[in-house]
Amino acid sequence: MEDKIKLQYIDKLYRYIKNGMNVEEFMGKFHISYNELTGILELFRIYGRNVDIIKQNEAIIFDKPITRTTPTKKPSLDFKNLIHTEIGVVSDTHFGNIHQQLHLLNDFYQECYNRGITIILHCGDVTDGFYTERKEQPRQQFLHGFDEQVGYTVDMYPEVKGIKTKYILGSHDETHYKNGQATVEKWVSRCRKDMEFLGQDSASININGIKIFMDHPGGGSAQSVSYKLQKRIEILESNYKPKILLVGHYHKSYAFVYRNVHGIEVPAFCDKTQFQQKQGLTNVVGAYILNIYSDKLGNIVYFEPEEFLYTEKDMWDEAFKDRNKVKKLLIK
Ligand SMILES: [Fe+2]
Ligand SMILES: [Fe+2]
Repeated sequence: MEDKIKLQYIDKLYRYIKNGMNVEEFMGKFHISYNELTGILELFRIYGRNVDIIKQNEAIIFDKPITRTTPTKKPSLDFKNLIHTEIGVVSDTHFGNIHQQLHLLNDFYQECYNRGITIILHCGDVTDGFYTERKEQPRQQFLHGFDEQVGYTVDMYPEVKGIKTKYILGSHDETHYKNGQATVEKWVSRCRKDMEFLGQDSASININGIKIFMDHPGGGSAQSVSYKLQKRIEILESNYKPKILLVGHYHKSYAFVYRNVHGIEVPAFCDKTQFQQKQGLTNVVGAYILNIYSDKLGNIVYFEPEEFLYTEKDMWDEAFKDRNKVKKLLIK
């Protein structure tokens, strides 16, 4: 097996295994023998993803240590003198839309928790909002208006010990303000101390000295994944040129470097909507984990964007499963 394929397979298994998951159930589900399990755990170790099995209350369970292990393959840099930053990036949760995928957002937060990540950035469109001119929109929602959508965000957004969610608001969130000057950020941040509001449409943020710009453009989406991202980088003010640009809104996934800026188009946590279908727009569900090594001046020396994509099989669109079956992810 080629190394890259092997690594993808290992990552998939690693992500599937949750801290505290019953080992026998796992072996039964995948028809894995004890010897095969030992081999899998050994492969995890080789690729720097540590998983152990331990006994707890008569059950054998997986133990995923919270500390991030060091990847085995790294360029020959002096990592000791660099600052390591690992952050999660999500976007476009569109709470209240019938295509929302809260269970996958929970899955991603659980993964970040397992890795000991403490900051997750949300690039806007937390709620689905209400465009008064889109008469068909209410039928595509199970939560209508400000109270229902923002109440749901306060109640259901993952709340995980040690993780702070820093968010901007996007075009859909802003409809609440346009419709009646209702402010999503006032209520979310008043009720959820783990959620910090950074700005409407955009925000500049500094993490460990690294300048990051979060951006939620308005307007139509683009068929070309890279074109709009390039344009966003070109219009950045020269006095605040970030090292990283994170762009929500497009529901696409793309990472590249342009004009010395690491640009990321952040995918969504909402499956394709009727609006996107009509417009012929593609939709990508997933998130990113960024592994960054920087110097004391905030210059990035090593940047590894890890793309987490979910497939059609992962979506819960049928029978309102996501809205009815998903419980809040609460880790205290
Ligand atoms: Fe969106
Ligand atoms: Fe948007």
